[in-house]
Amino acid sequence: MSIEQRKLDHVRYALELPISESTGFSDLSFVHRALPESDLADVSLATSIGGLDLSSPILLNAMTGGAGPTEAINGKLAELAKHCGIAMAVGSQRAALKDPALVSTYRIVRDVNPDGIIIGNLGAGATVEDAKRAVEMIGADLLHLHLNVAQELTMPEGDRSFSGLVEKIRQVVEGVGVPVIVKEVGNGMSIETFRVLAETGVKVVDVAGRGGTNFVAIENRRRSGLQFQHMESWGQTTAVSLLEAQEFLHRFDLIGSGGVQNAHDAAKCLALGAKAVGLAGAVLRPLMELGVEQAVEMMDHLHSELRAIVTLQGCRSVLELAERPVMVRGETAQWCQLRGVA
Ligand code: FNR
Repeated sequence: MSIEQRKLDHVRYALELPISESTGFSDLSFVHRALPESDLADVSLATSIGGLDLSSPILLNAMTGGAGPTEAINGKLAELAKHCGIAMAVGSQRAALKDPALVSTYRIVRDVNPDGIIIGNLGAGATVEDAKRAVEMIGADLLHLHLNVAQELTMPEGDRSFSGLVEKIRQVVEGVGVPVIVKEVGNGMSIETFRVLAETGVKVVDVAGRGGTNFVAIENRRRSGLQFQHMESWGQTTAVSLLEAQEFLHRFDLIGSGGVQNAHDAAKCLALGAKAVGLAGAVLRPLMELGVEQAVEMMDHLHSELRAIVTLQGCRSVLELAERPVMVRGETAQWCQLRGVA
């Protein structure tokens, strides 16, 4: 199976598979303030990650590139990002490092959005040399290093060896020349992972929890024969991952992602201390099914609703949401109790 076919399969199954998993967001609630003493007009959505200022905490998470038809998808994502003034990431650039003919499928995002904040993407085993080439390829402002062990193990042609990654991440963080974001792809993170990441010197971490796009399920659809079906619910939800991160809030700029569908989910991530919020599947669907204009409308609406929530909480900035109490119930509360977190 070629890398190009795999990239197309990922988009196809991400669109086809239902979103059935719980993200844990329904276990979280804000406490309503009937007298918030705030004005909608004063609300700022500005934030920063890795020392870079962002005018919105919403970013388009890594999705695609690396096959002919993905160039048009990345072009549309870049138009959306440009229109809405949000940061965006490309999908793994490994394909273009192997085959320079595929560079344009990623480079389009910089061509469409010359002044935007763009994030490159490679797997966490990348060398410093490859990381520099990926950054240069698209003029990236930051670089993702993704962790996707469950996906690789489910993928028939996937990696089977995962030792030595911590040292490789450390070298890229030190040598690549732009801030690095270590991210999962939908299985979440834990205290154990944050502790190890702290040793690498990385400053930005995207928890990418369970509950949205499910790569084990996607790879199962691509397998012939027996599937790894019981692994489809592997990992921590986004809510649990952010709660596990509480003692690391001063160490990392956290990005909340994985199953974020709307402004309420995004606000809950911010209230748990995330500095930014990533969306992948929830943007890909309207973009592919309805087009850029509708996706822009959806994003504008998400920003309006986020401003409303910030106002309701008596805050002037999205970052102040982190000072507000969040009620945690159900399975998410049980997890925290058993683990002694948050
Ligand atoms: C992804 N994702 C992803 N992540 C990554 O680091 N490198 C990649 O190449 C890809 N490829 C990719 C393709 C497609 C079609 C989708 C939908 C997603 C994972 C993505 O960045 C994100 O972490 C997960 O999708 C979870 O977020 P959502 O989709 O639940 O918002």
